[in-house]
Amino acid sequence: MAKKVYIGMSADLIHPGHLNIIKEGAKLGEVTVGVLTDEAIASYKRLPYLSYEQRKLIVESIKGVVKVIPQNTLDYVPNLRAEKPDFVVHGDDWKEGIQKKTRQDVIDAISDWGGKVIDIPYTPGISSTKLNENLKAIGTTPEIRMKRLRRLIQAKPIVRILESHSGLTGLIAENIKVNINGAEHEFDGMWSSSLTDSTSKGKPDIEAVDITTRMHGLNDTLECTTKPIIYDGDTGGKMEHFVFTVRTLERHGISAVIIEDKTGLKKNSLFGTAVPQTQDTIEDFSGKIRAGKNAQVTDDFMIIARVESLILGKTVEEALERAHAYVKAGADGVMIHSKEKTGLDIKEFCETFRKTNKSTPIVVVPSTFNHITENEFATWGINVVIYANHMLRASYPAMVDVAKSILSNGRSSNANDKCMPIKEILELIPGTK
Ligand code: SPV
Ligand code: MG
Repeated sequence: MAKKVYIGMSADLIHPGHLNIIKEGAKLGEVTVGVLTDEAIASYKRLPYLSYEQRKLIVESIKGVVKVIPQNTLDYVPNLRAEKPDFVVHGDDWKEGIQKKTRQDVIDAISDWGGKVIDIPYTPGISSTKLNENLKAIGTTPEIRMKRLRRLIQAKPIVRILESHSGLTGLIAENIKVNINGAEHEFDGMWSSSLTDSTSKGKPDIEAVDITTRMHGLNDTLECTTKPIIYDGDTGGKMEHFVFTVRTLERHGISAVIIEDKTGLKKNSLFGTAVPQTQDTIEDFSGKIRAGKNAQVTDDFMIIARVESLILGKTVEEALERAHAYVKAGADGVMIHSKEKTGLDIKEFCETFRKTNKSTPIVVVPSTFNHITENEFATWGINVVIYANHMLRASYPAMVDVAKSILSNGRSSNANDKCMPIKEILELIPGTK
């Protein structure tokens, strides 16, 4: 009987290195490829460009591959126990760095039935990381960008979104990474905030900056990023206007709009009950959601209903009644907002909501209850966390500080340490030189 060979791979950007491993594997026996699912990949790095189904299709067509199965975790062991291969074949790059432990776990597991690990010398001159960078430089299409949010919500325990109000803040959301225990942490997408869009124009957050103007600004972010965008649609305006907003956003490849259930002159939610704010009726707001859903062209665009009950001093029960009604009206997600510092009202809302609704995505904007971690939010049943205003709030005090230093000293050199070096800013944007 032919020997069994197992190869695990993401197979997002297939290159000659992958083909070589499969070729070498096929010399040893019948090759099964475990294609890592979106979930498995997103657990340690960026979501792949191609969906699992697309990647599976490609791998199935490669010469020497007999069978393709999903590998649901970064850990090979569950699949290895099921398949009991004689050989596991991998590039020898996994002998070092963060993959070292994965390799050892594989060796330990397959030794139970006498299986062996075969390390294939790494193909020189080829790097997925380099290919990825090149792909990023090519950019994206509205369709691919739009679909990405739904994929991320499916694949990740929690999706992390950062406010962006300019091309530059978009680049921060797109590119900034930190490495924690070998896993890369980065933002999954951007929030186009009404508060920061208005404030950066020197205008109040009262729907005074219209959609056409905001789209002009958002275009800067779209131009230099590939990650998905959630648009703060305020109240959505009149139903007759909202349908046009949905079309505009969708055409630009925005993934989702969040509209809040308030009417009349909107004020920022974080004022709470300190300013007069009126909540819409369930019937009318549901009508707006329905009109928006009917207006969209694709199945991918999401309309997320934002419940303002807790902001307006109403009960969790009232908020839940509204959330369930909005989902019934067609909302693709629910955002629950609060300015309560403990976050306990949000926790109660989410846990109760999840008793009867397991799947509708829940979004939170922890500006006041911001001591709670993403991991904790995930255990409450939350899917998306939005850091809604932090780029603007970080930059304003820094700029005021430097402006004051120049005024106080009659020169700018005292502020040198507070400013980015000239050389660095010249090299920040590729192509400046
Ligand atoms: C925004 O960022 O504009 C929001 C969130 O709508 S909040 O400011 O908390 O209302
Ligand atoms: Mg807003």
